[in-house]
Amino acid sequence: MPDILAMQRSLVLLKPDCVQRGLMGKIISRFEEKGLAIIAMKMIQVTPELSKQHYAEHVEKPFYGSLESFITSAPVVAIAVEGLEVITVIREMLGATSGLKASPGTIRGDYSGSRQMNLVHASDSEESAKRELDLYFGKEEFCAFESVAKDFLR
Ligand code: TYD
Ligand code: MG
Repeated sequence: MPDILAMQRSLVLLKPDCVQRGLMGKIISRFEEKGLAIIAMKMIQVTPELSKQHYAEHVEKPFYGSLESFITSAPVVAIAVEGLEVITVIREMLGATSGLKASPGTIRGDYSGSRQMNLVHASDSEESAKRELDLYFGKEEFCAFESVAKDFLR
């Protein structure tokens, strides 16, 4: 974590397994309890085209076909989250990519036993956060966040 903390935004997706297993509330609660600000949120069906844009870095990989089938199999919930160093904070909260390797106490470690069905996506850098937020949200969809507990954000 750098000495001077940056206010950042990250794209979080609650993937089809999260929606279908009824874990949306639990996962959103973890972000809320951490004091992160949800500044946009909607349920959408990912199309194959959007999947290819979202996962551009993986399109040529052997697992991509299966990943696209999974991410387009049922609705997802797209969430824009804002907070200090939120990109690193959320990635740490998720744990390792595979639920089989993610530590207990992390979201994937607590709820997933799968490499593919790992419940939640989160941006991995400021560059990918900006690119991914632009894919899922129009500028007008972001809401100003005035927290009654805004001291948590410092
Ligand atoms: P990746 O960006 O490497 O992981 P993360 O979601 O932690 O940023 O991969 C994107 C998704 O692709 C990952 O969440 C699950 C899936 N995936 C597989 O199905 N098999 C694999 O071998 C890898 C590396 C990822
Ligand atoms: Mg990734």
